[in-house]
Amino acid sequence: MDKLLISGGGPLAGEIRVSGSKNAALPILAATLLSSEPVMVRNLPHLHDITTMIALLRSMGTELIVDENLGVEINGSTTTETTAPYELVKTMRASILVLGPLLAHFGHARVSFPGGCAIGSRPVDQHLRGLEAMGAIIDVDAGYITARAPEGGLRGAHVLFDMVTVGGTENVMMAAALAKGRTVLENAAREPEIVDLANCLIAMGAKISGHGSATITIDGVERLHGCTYHVMADRIEAGTYLVAAAATRGSIRLRDIGPDTLEAVLVKLVEAGAKIDSGDDWISLDMEGRRPKAVNIKTMPYPGFPTDMQAQFTAMNAVADGVSHVTETIFENRLIQTHEMNRMGAKISIEGNTAMITGTERLKAAPVMASDLRASASLVIAGLVADGDTLVDRIYHIDRGYECIEEKFHALGATIRRVAN
Ligand code: UD1
Repeated sequence: MDKLLISGGGPLAGEIRVSGSKNAALPILAATLLSSEPVMVRNLPHLHDITTMIALLRSMGTELIVDENLGVEINGSTTTETTAPYELVKTMRASILVLGPLLAHFGHARVSFPGGCAIGSRPVDQHLRGLEAMGAIIDVDAGYITARAPEGGLRGAHVLFDMVTVGGTENVMMAAALAKGRTVLENAAREPEIVDLANCLIAMGAKISGHGSATITIDGVERLHGCTYHVMADRIEAGTYLVAAAATRGSIRLRDIGPDTLEAVLVKLVEAGAKIDSGDDWISLDMEGRRPKAVNIKTMPYPGFPTDMQAQFTAMNAVADGVSHVTETIFENRLIQTHEMNRMGAKISIEGNTAMITGTERLKAAPVMASDLRASASLVIAGLVADGDTLVDRIYHIDRGYECIEEKFHALGATIRRVAN
C-alpha cells in the first residue's frame, strides 16, 4: 500500500491550478443517465472516485468515450443494466446518486445499500423518502435498494427534507427532471455543487429554478438532450492548499478558481492573519512569514463553514498562536484525525463533537494513518509543519479526492514523495 513521505520544512510558495470539483463531477456523471443523447463532460479531475463512477456506468452497459484530457462523452440512453453492484458501491458511497436518474429514465433501479464509513453511519433515508413522494415503490432487501416507478412514471411532488442533505437534494432533483409535473424541494442543500448540477441539467433541457436557495422548483420534461458541460473548480481542493500555505507561513496563488464559493473559508483565513487577494479566476494568500492565529470553527451546511475543510483547519490550529474550538455538526466521528495529530505533538482534546486545540509552534514527525479523505489531507498539512519526515499511511483515501497531490505540493516547494510499502 502506498504511503506519502513528507519532509517538514519551510513555507509553501508558488502557483498551482485548481482541478475540477470531485463533488460536482460525481452527480453530473450520474445525471448523464437521464439524457436521451450523448453528453460531454469536461474538466473532470483525474481521481479514483471519478474512475469508479465511470466504471459503474460501464458496468451498466452505458456507452462512453474517454478522451486524452479525461473529458468523457456518455450516452445514457445506451444503458442496458439498472443495477449498481455492491463491489462498486462499497468503494464509493456517491454511487447512490445513480438511483434517481436510473429510476426516472428507465423506470427501475437496483442499487446496493451504501454501508457506513469512517466518518459515520451516513443513512440515505432522505433520498428514498423524496423518491417515494414522487410515487416510487421502494424495497430494501438483501443489502440492495430496489426502486420501481409507478405506472405512468414518477410524478412531481412536494418534498421537505428533514435535514440539509447534499446527496439527497441531488438524487431527488435529478429524478424530478424527468417526472411528470412540478416538484418543489424544500430545505434543499445550497452547496455550489448543487448549483453546478442544476446548471448541467438545464444545459440538457431541464426546467429548474431556485437552485442555490433552500427551495428548488423542477418542472419535469419528457426527455433531456445532449450538451457539453465544464465542471466547476474544486473549492475544497483550493481551500486545502490555502490552509496548507497558511499553516506553513507561506504565500501561494491558485489559478482557475474564483473566491465566490469559498467565502466561509476565506473569512477564517483572514481571521488567522492571511492576506487574501482574488480576481475572477484566481486567489492568492500571503502570510508574510507570520504564524497563523488560532480560529474557532463550527461546520454548517453551505454557505456556512464546510465540514470538508474542518480537518485541514484543525491541523492549522494545531500550530497556530492561541487556543481554538472546532465543532463538527454534520458528521459523527469526523474528529478522529486529531488522535493522529496528537501523536505528532499536537495538543488536542475532544469533548463530544468539539476539538479543543492549544496551538504549539511546531509538530514532530511521526508515522500516521489516514482514516478518510479530508483527514488524510490534514495529516499532510501536519507533516508539512513537522520537524522531520512524516510517513502518512493509507493514502488511497487521498487519491480519492486530490489530483496530482505530490506534483502540486512540489510546485509549491514542498518535499513530498510517494513510497511503496
Ligand atoms: C456530500 C459530499 C461530502 C460532504 C457532505 C456534506 C459528495 C460526493 N460528498 O456528502 O464530501 O462532506 O456532502 O457537505 O458530494 N443524512 C441523513 N439521511 C440522508 C442523507 C443524509 O441522515 O438520507 C445525514 C448524513 O448522515 C449527514 C448529513 O445528513 O449527517 C449530511 O449528509 P449529506 O449532505 O447527504 O452528505 P453527502 O451527500 O453524503
